Amino acid sequence: MNLTPKEIVEYLDRYVISQKDAKKTIALALRTRYRRMQLSKELQDEIMPKNILMIGSTGVGKTEISRRLAKMMKVPFIKVEASKYTEVGFVGRDVESMIRDLVVSSIAIVKAEREEENKDKIDNYVINKIVEKLLPPLPDQATPEKKDDYKKLLKTMEEKVIHGEMDEKIIQIKFDKVNIEFNDTNLPPEMAKVQESFSKIFSTMNKEDNKKDVTVKDAKVLLRQEATSKLLDMTNINAEALRRAEDGGIIFLDEIDKIAISSKSQGRNDPSKEGVQRDLLPIVEGSSVTTKYGVINTDHILFIAAGAFHLTKPSDLIPELQGRFPLRVELEALTEESLYLILTQTKNSLLKQYEALLSVEGLKIIFEDDAIKAIAKLAHKANEITEDIGARRLHTVIEKVLEDISFNADEYKDKEYVITSKLVHEKLDLVVENDDLSRYIL
Ligand SMILES: Nc1ncnc2c1ncn2[C@@H]1O[C@H](COP(=O)(O)OP(=O)(O)OP(=O)(O)O)[C@@H](O)[C@H]1O
Ligand SMILES: [Mg+2]
Repeated sequence: MNLTPKEIVEYLDRYVISQKDAKKTIALALRTRYRRMQLSKELQDEIMPKNILMIGSTGVGKTEISRRLAKMMKVPFIKVEASKYTEVGFVGRDVESMIRDLVVSSIAIVKAEREEENKDKIDNYVINKIVEKLLPPLPDQATPEKKDDYKKLLKTMEEKVIHGEMDEKIIQIKFDKVNIEFNDTNLPPEMAKVQESFSKIFSTMNKEDNKKDVTVKDAKVLLRQEATSKLLDMTNINAEALRRAEDGGIIFLDEIDKIAISSKSQGRNDPSKEGVQRDLLPIVEGSSVTTKYGVINTDHILFIAAGAFHLTKPSDLIPELQGRFPLRVELEALTEESLYLILTQTKNSLLKQYEALLSVEGLKIIFEDDAIKAIAKLAHKANEITEDIGARRLHTVIEKVLEDISFNADEYKDKEYVITSKLVHEKLDLVVENDDLSRYIL
């Protein structure tokens, strides 16, 4: 995708309030990769991505930014939690598996593109297969007139299948191979190969009974898989996917602060955390990782790390790792104004979600502007008095305001319910003012 930095920021603005610096830095990093791809191969090899470290307390939009990017970008993108990994040799996922996951995500993108390009071919394949089952074949010695009739019959049957008129009919379809898909990318490639041969053996063993009675409706879905594996060149797709992951892949490494070791907690250092950091070094720096689909070089993969760094600081990461994230951006704490904007300006905001949910019950709720301001104000206050949990506070606050209405929604069927600032204060004032209560409830 070749969006300009401005366009990327504009897109993010629709979902994430404030955090200008973070958006700008990320948008620029993405554009730089696009610029790099336009250069000669020689220069391309020289230009390394500048990885980003996002720092900001909890609930200010770090994960939200990445989630939105992932939806928008058509590049291979995965979001992983650093705290999920363990040092090589320990039980658990090793860090290289994130590269394998990236390749899998890349394959999904390329495959979807090819399926779209070959949509007609795939549709034809599926329809023909189904028609074959519905119409018994004509004997070879049939007269020319019979053959003509048969052709017409085929045509009408095709139409019927396409328009769903035959959907309820039962046909028997044969599965070429038993689809025992092992998608555990955590396995090292050698193991994955072993597993593959196992599934091959299984599929030959099951050759006899891999016929199934299904409705035409289901067959349309089931035969698609067969069609794509027959019509699409998977080797080519894999190669293209590897290339795209190498040149355009982005890994969002969330919760990186969880693998930093606080300098204050001397003596209780967790060796495995430091091990994970060390394991990360070569991957972030650039190295070759073997996957089931081939070897991938991680030189040009962009890493965006994020963490709240409440208990630890970026400087608590081992120096080598710090150095590999040269771009630092801090996300601001959310003000009352930002909280108000999050409620009113974002697409699919919380208020819209509640409105939609309650409309299912036939209840139309209307938030007065003053009420929304009051919600933002009280949420901000609660953040100040207890802990600052950012925009997440809005969830608990609104939940509290709507609790009774939501519970009794059936009584308000086909009615309107106006949420006023008076109501908001009634529901929340006592709770927010009382330190203990708000800790407990909000
Ligand atoms: N700046 C923002 N604009 C819009 N919504 C936001 C913003 N910040 C947070 N939110 C909302 O708050 C919730 C939590 O945000 P998010 O998951 O991004 O927090 P985070 O910064 O990753 O926190 P943590 O460090 O705890 O992981 C999400 O539902 C998100 O939609
Ligand atoms: Mg997060």
